[in-house]
Amino acid sequence: MEYMEDWMKSSMKIFESYVDSFTGLTPLQQHNFSIKKDHSIRVAENALLLSKYLNLSEEEVQIAVLAGIFHDIGRFGQLLKHNTLNDAESFDHADYGVEVLTGKEILKEWSDEVNRLVYKAIQLHNKFVIPTSLTSEELLYTRILRDADKLDIFKVLTEYYSDKSRPPNHTLTWDLPLASQVSAEVAKEVLGGKLVSKQLVKSDVDVKIMQLSWVYDIHFRFSFEEVLKNRFLEKIYNSLPKNDRIIEIYRKIKVFSENKLMA
Ligand SMILES: [Fe+2]
Repeated sequence: MEYMEDWMKSSMKIFESYVDSFTGLTPLQQHNFSIKKDHSIRVAENALLLSKYLNLSEEEVQIAVLAGIFHDIGRFGQLLKHNTLNDAESFDHADYGVEVLTGKEILKEWSDEVNRLVYKAIQLHNKFVIPTSLTSEELLYTRILRDADKLDIFKVLTEYYSDKSRPPNHTLTWDLPLASQVSAEVAKEVLGGKLVSKQLVKSDVDVKIMQLSWVYDIHFRFSFEEVLKNRFLEKIYNSLPKNDRIIEIYRKIKVFSENKLMA
């Protein structure tokens, strides 16, 4: 980002000095740290773009961007302590991230209300469903962060799927068995218009279908424009085996997304 406001620069510095405070990392940990650091910065940029698109006020933009910068702050302790990005094998990195932020008073220059809304969005960024009990403000920042995060994950995944010469990356594919067909339960969810849960995922094909189902958890027209402009869905589909069920799923997802731009 060429131009950055002072508050954004100083928040990025706080974030980077937290990440750089970990010493004695293995080369693999260092590699994963820099991947997560770069991801966090791009998510903050996406949150900024979404905030501008939504015509938010200066303070509202700040909340959305701060949530973006710090949303994965729990990843670094998770990588250090457990050498994994798998929450099920370690701990919930979002809940832990909120603990890190409160414990270190990282956002102490901001008001209690800003802190509260940032923590709420971070805590909810990785949950399967957004609780129905949120205030409209809590819901706004939670949705912005989830969209901003997904847009970057789509970018990283589709670059990976499109590059045939890439080294395998198990943090993206989860090292699951290869399949030629989608699991029945996964197909049922996605064709029923539902987000696919990680628990149902059994193969590399299921992971990609789950990723397609994320369109059901995208909240803003801006994000659908980005998904279609960058051809994220096609790129995932192109990496899948072709059979009737998978073609049917892809068509449904594609039509659902295109209809979001008609409304
Ligand atoms: Fe995360």
